[in-house]
Amino acid sequence: MNRHLLSAADLDHAGAVEILDTAERLDRALAGREVKKLPPLRGRTVVNLFYEDSTRTRTSFELAAKRLSADVVNFTAKGSSVSKGESLKDTALTLEAMGADAVVIRHSYSGAAHRLAGWVHGSVINAGDGTHEHPTQALLDAFTMRRRLRGGAGDLAGLRVAVVGDVLHSRVARSNVLLLSTLGAAVTLVAPPTLLPVGVDGWPAATSFDLDAVLPNCDAVMMLRVQRERMSADGAGGGNQFVPSAREYARRYGLDARRMAMLTEQAIVMHPGPMNRGMEIAAEVADDPKRSTIVEQVTNGLSVRMAVLYLLLGGNE
Ligand code: CP
Repeated sequence: MNRHLLSAADLDHAGAVEILDTAERLDRALAGREVKKLPPLRGRTVVNLFYEDSTRTRTSFELAAKRLSADVVNFTAKGSSVSKGESLKDTALTLEAMGADAVVIRHSYSGAAHRLAGWVHGSVINAGDGTHEHPTQALLDAFTMRRRLRGGAGDLAGLRVAVVGDVLHSRVARSNVLLLSTLGAAVTLVAPPTLLPVGVDGWPAATSFDLDAVLPNCDAVMMLRVQRERMSADGAGGGNQFVPSAREYARRYGLDARRMAMLTEQAIVMHPGPMNRGMEIAAEVADDPKRSTIVEQVTNGLSVRMAVLYLLLGGNE
């Protein structure tokens, strides 16, 4: 594996499968233990550098590092010297001076993780940069699909995945399209034209505006959060609306019980969280005990992040 994980494009087929296999192995190694801790990263320090809010990613990186016996420093911009004007570079160098071996960064600016990788000597893991990428989310999604639909081994060749909703603002969609195509899956992006990015024709994915037509022909449907806060930043609040209304969006692109019934028997429903229940996904779909993998995705995030830390920090040496 490379020194950093900045993009899903950093992973070739063998590298991606190695992470998924390692996650399976670590998960099994911990399953039978009363004390859920393994020793490989003893003496290593992982810094979680979060400039943007997070529930799932931050806590699972913290828990993953601790389960591998690393020391963990949690840094959030709120309450730090960032409020006094300290730059990302100076903050990162300060934390590195305290002995960080890996920095996990979330930032609202696309490209922040790449910038950081040029400044520090340790490994950098992109935990979500603006609307750009979120590679460990794509890995945990692939892990979940592989477990549910491929028996937990190999790649995702031939799997049909629909990624639905606010593709324009979604780092999850970008990383998933890259990783899923590396693993052999066929991706269809389903969104209103206003929520597809310029240049999407060059992505390794098909596009559709018609959710009802796509649903009967997919094995996994991944609903994306409508990112209203990024729409405001884009000026949507000033009248440049991306969708006519929440109700209209839900009618055209929301996954409700009627639409879920159009899926094949084995198909699963995914969402990276946090969800807008009632907008992109109905509560009864999100909580469906058979098809919804939303809680499982969170659990799997821990195994996948353990695998990434383990491989990046030389736990296999
Ligand atoms: N899916 C995800 O990145 O969630 P958080 O924003 O809670 O980390």
